[in-house]
Amino acid sequence: MFNKRIKVKQLLASEQTGHEVTVMGWVRTFRNNQFLAVNDGSTNNNIQIVLELGQFDDALLKRLTTSASVKVTGEVVPSMGKGQKIEIKAKTLEILGDSDAEKYPLQLKNRPSLEYLREIAHMRFRTNTFGAVFRVRHSLAFAIHKFFNEKGFVYLHTPIITASDAEGAGEMFRVTSLPFDGTPRNEDGSVNFKEDFFGKSTNLTVSGQLEGELGATAFGEIYTFGPTFRAENSNTARHLAEFWMIEPEMAFSDLEDNMNLAEEFIKYIIQHAMDNNREDLEFLAQRLAEEEKQKPQAERSEMGLIEKLEFVLNNNFERITYTEAIDILLQSPAYKKKKFQYEVKWGIDMQSEHERYLVEKHFKKPVIVTNYPKDIKAFYMRLNEDGKTVAAMDILAPGIGEIVGGSQREERLENLEARMKEMHVPADELWWYLDTRRFGTVPHAGFGLGFERMVLFVTGMTNIRDVIAFPRTPKTAEF
Ligand code: 4AD
Ligand code: MG
Repeated sequence: MFNKRIKVKQLLASEQTGHEVTVMGWVRTFRNNQFLAVNDGSTNNNIQIVLELGQFDDALLKRLTTSASVKVTGEVVPSMGKGQKIEIKAKTLEILGDSDAEKYPLQLKNRPSLEYLREIAHMRFRTNTFGAVFRVRHSLAFAIHKFFNEKGFVYLHTPIITASDAEGAGEMFRVTSLPFDGTPRNEDGSVNFKEDFFGKSTNLTVSGQLEGELGATAFGEIYTFGPTFRAENSNTARHLAEFWMIEPEMAFSDLEDNMNLAEEFIKYIIQHAMDNNREDLEFLAQRLAEEEKQKPQAERSEMGLIEKLEFVLNNNFERITYTEAIDILLQSPAYKKKKFQYEVKWGIDMQSEHERYLVEKHFKKPVIVTNYPKDIKAFYMRLNEDGKTVAAMDILAPGIGEIVGGSQREERLENLEARMKEMHVPADELWWYLDTRRFGTVPHAGFGLGFERMVLFVTGMTNIRDVIAFPRTPKTAEF
């Protein structure tokens, strides 16, 4: 065993004094050759270590630079200073690792920008902002498993390497072990994938849904929670090439059950963060308030972060059909004043400006939009009676736009085959998927929640690159 240490969070929470403890962490600040603030990542709050003047060598004190790692043993005593109730009177102090103050890339004094911190993402966990964001992210992930576990859903690990395009959108990263030079070719010049590692063309998964449906039609209810990959060239604050998705899939379920589950689920995980990450959320609320101050009055959000989360917990999501959504847009002052950049008419794939108008200006709360035109949605969605819409649902969140995409699935074999044909989805490759409709098909539904978009919503961060540890976006795959 390396050593027994107490985590700073636990130490600060106990407020007990008079006993000896050992803490380990990284130096945040060192003032007056006497007051050492140490952070160990368990909380944004530092523990103050008091080094009595004359007790330690000058040479040692000089090495107490920002981010040096230390091990301190001493007595917990009430603190005279303001800002903390207790502190540690150091008995022994050991520097585990030096940190060259000249070279250390994170000088906290001049408040590094989020953009700069992305360039040093390997160090940014050591800031208060990222400390808070990633503890909240952890907590949300935990709450997700807790939610589904309590409901009896089976956690299904769907494959990351697949040979199918679950969304039929063609936005896939290829997986191959074939050489670029001397790629084996068929007679017609096309690549001979028979020679490839898997003997066929494979890619990174865009969604675990299709395999999820196989699970749901046996276990009844499953969920996936894993990385998904999209080679869409969208350089926005909401898109990643590698993101995490949660995909529940339920047998014996229709669109309404699906909406109910999604709303309950989102509220549950927000509540979990509110109950378990209050300190970090308050810190993030403060950060957001400061960021908002930089904006012109008209662009500032009406609610603070905590208020917004409470509002979401205490109000029903608005539920409207796609057709109603388009009508609202057509009636809107924004449309009449030609404020939308993109066209509005029935049949469009709503752009972010349209979605944001609905949630931020019109309803001012999360909105579930249902029954989209079939032509803008995936092949597996259940065709409605009208023959032109499908039983889809998207949840739109203020400040984020689409956070959930889901649907009731087309469980009728003939309909599904017809849709696949229309949309040029190769039925022979998806024979196994079609088998669920051949052998005991059932009405079923599911959705996908973009985990990073959820983390954005809860933390009040504004760029998706700041809520995933090491973002993968067009032209960046550092760290
Ligand atoms: O709407 P999408 O594409 O739906 C599916 O993949 C379905 N198979 C889900 C299902 O029904 N099981 O993606 C679902 C969610 C989106 O609503 C969004 O939150 C997130 O995944 N998402 C992204 N997040 C970050 N970066 C991207 N490039 C994303 N693309 C989708
Ligand atoms: Mg979608």
